[in-house]
Amino acid sequence: MTRIPHETSGEPNPLHALTPELLRRRTSMKWRTYPEDVLPVWVAEMDVPLAEPVVRAVTGAMERGDTGYPVGSAYAEALAAFARQRWDWDGLAVERTAIVPDVMLGVVEMLKLVTGPGDPVVVNSPVYPPFYAFVRHLDRRVVEAPLGADGRIDPEVLKDTFRRVTAGRERAAYLLCSPHNPTGTVHTADELSAVAALAERYGVRVVADEIHAPLVLAGARFVPYLSVPGGERGLSLMSASKAWNLAGLKAALAVAGPEAAADLARMPEEVGHGPSHVGVLAHTAALREGTAWLDALLAGLDANRRLLTGLLAEHLPAIRYRPGEATYLAWLDCRGLDLGDDPAEVFLRHGRVALNSGLPFGTGGAGHARLNLATTPGLLTEAVRRMAVALRR
Ligand SMILES: Cc1ncc(COP(=O)(O)O)c(C=O)c1O
Repeated sequence: MTRIPHETSGEPNPLHALTPELLRRRTSMKWRTYPEDVLPVWVAEMDVPLAEPVVRAVTGAMERGDTGYPVGSAYAEALAAFARQRWDWDGLAVERTAIVPDVMLGVVEMLKLVTGPGDPVVVNSPVYPPFYAFVRHLDRRVVEAPLGADGRIDPEVLKDTFRRVTAGRERAAYLLCSPHNPTGTVHTADELSAVAALAERYGVRVVADEIHAPLVLAGARFVPYLSVPGGERGLSLMSASKAWNLAGLKAALAVAGPEAAADLARMPEEVGHGPSHVGVLAHTAALREGTAWLDALLAGLDANRRLLTGLLAEHLPAIRYRPGEATYLAWLDCRGLDLGDDPAEVFLRHGRVALNSGLPFGTGGAGHARLNLATTPGLLTEAVRRMAVALRR
């Protein structure tokens, strides 16, 4: 049965645990890219302490000196159990998985399996900027099929794009972001079935980045792409990295549908040397024992979403914000503020608050900014205050 994130998971809200002083001691990208007077609400790192099972797994490895190479299928087994429990999906077969260093390198490896140099890779803009950078670095061609004005996949646009990119009989892939970063859109079973039908019709291979899958709010339902009719030829990338804040502990899983198993089997064995053994231990512990922590986080994120909605209505009513059903990212339409194509630049310069610029998210990103709401309510309030201050200059 699907477990509904609930305030009563028994765990304290991890978004209430840290102070600005403790966060400033962090040395990762979020807290060290900008000078000290800038409040960072950009890159997808969360301002939370780690789940206790993750700490135990990592410190246990340190105590044992257990820092060698990864082996075995514990991560995949933990993900399969999590998928059964949270998404009612028992189709994640451990023998159709492979560990990869992280989700983006996994995306690259999957695209290598199903496309060749110069082949098109369709993405739904606006979308996570590394989709452009990694695909281009791989020498594939990014083709945009923009989301509709409602932030959802537009089947007509997708169909036209698939038709166009396959007209020359090239191999083509579709890099699906599910749930979608930056809008937080959770694709429905019907939408994903329509995607799969189009992919079959045009011979497009689907690679689904499902890194945000555990971060779906109560009331919404994540549907694994491989679980929908027609999804059997799909390849998915999953990881505990976003939901448990483990980006610094590299490890992810590639998962093949039944009809993509032979493709995944062609992935070179050496790719599996990339993930860190300690990363695998941490991700496995998160999925296996970190669900109460995750439920507390989801309840906290929901409260922050409501807080942000109220703060924007009060201080920046010209910003349009449609709270997503997943992720901890808020996609802010700032065009009503008349700040030009890059409002994040204005917020940074005049308000000393760092959001992501919408521009690198591709078509649909101009005039937008992405705010990371996985922080304390106090810092979220301060971020909006600073954004409002920037406008008075
Ligand atoms: C959609 C999406 N894919 C991939 C990543 C990065 O994952 P990894 O660090 O495992 O490559 C992120 C990080 O925010 C993301 O939002």
